[in-house]
Amino acid sequence: MGNFFPRWTNWLPLKLAIGVVFIVLGVAVALPYYATPKYTRVGYQPTQPVPFSHKIHVEQNGMDCRFCHSFGERSSHSNVPTNQVCFNCHGAGKGQIKLASPKLEPVRKAAETGDPIKWVKIHKAPDYVYFNHSAHLNRGISCVSCHGKVNEMEVVYHDQPQSMGWCLDCHRNPEKNLRPLTELTNLNYKPESLDRTAFYKSLLAKNSAADIAAEIPGGKGATVTDAASLATLAQKAYGEKVTQTEVGTQLKKHWNILPPQDCTACHR
Ligand code: HEC
Ligand code: HEC
Ligand code: HEC
Ligand code: HEC
Ligand code: HEC
Repeated sequence: MGNFFPRWTNWLPLKLAIGVVFIVLGVAVALPYYATPKYTRVGYQPTQPVPFSHKIHVEQNGMDCRFCHSFGERSSHSNVPTNQVCFNCHGAGKGQIKLASPKLEPVRKAAETGDPIKWVKIHKAPDYVYFNHSAHLNRGISCVSCHGKVNEMEVVYHDQPQSMGWCLDCHRNPEKNLRPLTELTNLNYKPESLDRTAFYKSLLAKNSAADIAAEIPGGKGATVTDAASLATLAQKAYGEKVTQTEVGTQLKKHWNILPPQDCTACHR
């Protein structure tokens, strides 16, 4: 009998064995990595150089997110504020709020030296992911959908996973998170607080009453002409209070919201 298999197959068992070793090693190395809090990231809450409280500034003093995170809507990247923003209120000769507070010592120091305060970054998409803040904010997705109730945080933490599955979850069903642009930085917003007639009136500015009615269950072909009659129709379908389903369905349709799901949209 001649050699049935070509010569190289003699090495096959060895190659397989080496392969198995590498796979086992790979899993052993990868598992702890993927399971670490830094990878799943939810709850990640580093200590910041200044005990800056969003609760005090936003919730108690009514400051808008964009006062400090001013680039979010205009550019792809959001930003943490520069020292100058803090000096406006805590600097000598200006606001002078709590000027002598020990908690503000690093801010005073930054004012003297001119060095930026070294805030620890909390949210970070990997380099191979393309993410654009303004593309979301301009399309009715609020900070709260991706960062949680920052307005109530004494110290900011990572509230949402911001993993690929998480991005796609919303991209498949954006209607769960869409809201009027006027409510973007109102982290306490609830759809039931909307005035229904005013909501339909805003839609009527760019869309026909028939098209809007068609999105309301049982509203197709209804004879409606104005916001009040649309509101009546919606009340029959959704009940007394405005619901997220109602708002999300209308905005998705009439703003033509279609979040991408193809790989190259986020990995370019
Ligand atoms: C007075 C200025 C100010 C206002 C107003 C403000 N922030 Fe901040 N924000 C900061 C500073 C300073 C940091 C960095 C220190 C920290 O994490 O607390 C920060 C950090 C953050 C981070 C974490 C950034 C990272 O590293 O990943 C998020 C998210 C955030 N803010 C969201 C918001 C939202 C949402 C609002 C509105 C509800 C808001 N902020 C209002 C000053 C502000
Ligand atoms: C629009 C004005 C304004 C701006 C801008 C502002 N703050 Fe404040 N800050 C306040 C007010 C008001 C308080 C609450 C003071 C009080 O409790 O009496 C406060 C309180 C604080 C405290 C707590 C002080 C203490 O002793 O309790 C810290 C720390 C602080 N701010 C840091 C910052 C930092 C850092 C920035 C810049 C990112 C900043 N603030 C920007 C108005 C401002
Ligand atoms: C669709 C989800 C989404 C929305 C909506 C969103 N963010 Fe973010 N945010 C992210 C992601 C993802 C990152 C990490 C991005 C990166 O590393 O490039 C981030 C990062 C940040 C950072 C850190 C930037 C830095 O350079 O340190 C701040 C501050 C921030 N967001 C504030 C806000 C504010 C304020 C709003 C609302 C006005 C908002 N974000 C809305 C997803 C979102
Ligand atoms: C809460 C909902 C939500 C989450 C979470 C979300 N997105 Fe989006 N995304 C949207 C919506 C809405 C649009 C706008 C679609 C449109 O304009 O038709 C969008 C658009 C995009 C676009 C196309 C616009 C552009 O900038 O080219 C990209 C890319 C994108 N998202 C990436 C991401 C990534 C990456 C994440 C996760 C880190 C993410 N998104 C998380 C809702 C979301
Ligand atoms: C909506 C945005 C989005 C789309 C669409 C998307 N990805 Fe991702 N992808 C991400 C984000 C965000 C991460 C980073 C996850 C993290 O940091 O936890 C990621 C991570 C990855 C990783 C690294 C996985 C890991 O565990 O480290 C691979 C591989 C990948 N994506 C492949 C794909 C492929 C293939 C497709 C198309 C079928 C795709 N992605 C579509 C947002 C997206």
